[in-house]
Amino acid sequence: MKNDHLAIRAGAARRVGVVDRRLFGGFVEHLGRHIYDGIYEPTHPTADTEGWRTDVIELVKELGVDTIRYPGGNFVSAFQWEDSVGPVEERPRRLDLAWHSTETNEVGLHEFHSWLEKVGSDLMLAVNLGTRGTKEALELLEYANVPEGTALSEQRRRNGRDAPFEVGMWCLGNEMDGPWQIGHRSAEDYGKLAARTARAMRQLDDRIQLVACGSSSSQMPTFGTWERTVLEHTAGLVDFISCHAYYEERDGDLGSFLASAVDMDHFIETVVAIADEVKARLGSDRTVNISFDEWNVWYNTRFENVDKIEGIDNWPTAPRLLEDVYSVADAVVFGSLLISLLKHADRVTSASLAQLVNVIAPIMTEPGGPAWRQTTFFPFAITSRLARGSAHVLSLDAPTYDTRRHGEVPLVDAVATHDESDGTVAVFLVNRSTAVSVQVAVDVGEFGVSDVHESHVVHDEDVYAKNTLHEPDRVVPRRSDAAVADGTLHVTLPPVSWTAVALR
Ligand code: AHR
Repeated sequence: MKNDHLAIRAGAARRVGVVDRRLFGGFVEHLGRHIYDGIYEPTHPTADTEGWRTDVIELVKELGVDTIRYPGGNFVSAFQWEDSVGPVEERPRRLDLAWHSTETNEVGLHEFHSWLEKVGSDLMLAVNLGTRGTKEALELLEYANVPEGTALSEQRRRNGRDAPFEVGMWCLGNEMDGPWQIGHRSAEDYGKLAARTARAMRQLDDRIQLVACGSSSSQMPTFGTWERTVLEHTAGLVDFISCHAYYEERDGDLGSFLASAVDMDHFIETVVAIADEVKARLGSDRTVNISFDEWNVWYNTRFENVDKIEGIDNWPTAPRLLEDVYSVADAVVFGSLLISLLKHADRVTSASLAQLVNVIAPIMTEPGGPAWRQTTFFPFAITSRLARGSAHVLSLDAPTYDTRRHGEVPLVDAVATHDESDGTVAVFLVNRSTAVSVQVAVDVGEFGVSDVHESHVVHDEDVYAKNTLHEPDRVVPRRSDAAVADGTLHVTLPPVSWTAVALR
């Protein structure tokens, strides 16, 4: 079957909207070896004077990450931000209940901001609405954004930072719909708290953008009603509602796994419909967009069944947690999730890949040793670099296949971007077939491009091939056979592959 070919056409691009750079955001949580022994390792041979691993900084820059969400995640729902500022030697060691670990607070707000300056990313802060509330959110906002002359802004200055951090995006808690969340509550209760907090935060700084918690996945029993209720309370006060989604191959069902982006499409379209319906019904003049601020492939069942830490006397510092090793198939699904985000670029104007280093991450590190790229690194880095300008949905005449989890799904998905400033075009494609190569002819005549500038394909005969400490370059993208003739891009998509082509 592997040598079978299928030919399909793609044409009539529909312009969706401008791609917001924040679509290529990341997420750094105090979790496992993300911070400690990940981005921060003062004894590492590449560490700079502040203790940051410069080999990791270089990889994060290569990845091309925009705004970075911090400090959680589940971690934030019991976090006391005051613990993480001031003299490091005076900071308390705390129990992190979310991940059953010890948080030393050696890296806190100031240090993390300094790291962000080195990687060239902006800060997106989440406030604790689990164990805390409006008062503490306001205090953090004052500490971060007020220039000077008040108790907390002066405290920040005494702590070594004269200029405000100018944090523009704020998350009102994390996954408050999830029973696992510390301080989990009903949509009604969370909606009221989020509205109160949003109103107060805007009173302090009306330049900020606010993200209300949406659903932790489209499979949550409250999915839909949660968004409706929360938005009814927060209409006119928030700019974004969040979506979170993680996918994994279950029970050897590769076909369904490869079609995970179908769920993401449905998730986004459902939330947009609810947000617009609430906006119209309540006569709000603020459109609520989506902040897809956690998305990835995550073998969560492995964590739940094998890796979970327990015991009253067992609170390790920086344990190895959620260190998934990604395969080619994972990278193909990952690339298709990026296609889904781009196809909805008009309404998904912020997204955060969860996460960045060691923890369900595109970048892995070994203490005292190397850092390397996982398979998922490549679709992110390439898409972040090439997807410029506006996004365009292509009409595809792709055949469908049947899946256990998503029903009939198209075999191929694709999206294009067009940068009007320099005329370049990028086309991103995924072939979900485990058996056949697909020859695609994409009509790119309307963009006036005639050359393939670069092309990349992530594919391997072994769909479970991975990059590891001992074989860090086992999987790398290769050039595809992409070529343009008479306004048509011709490219072959091997089975289980993700492809990017840049044209000019
Ligand atoms: O990214 C890992 C965890 O997934 C986050 O802490 C939480 O928000 C989500 O459930």
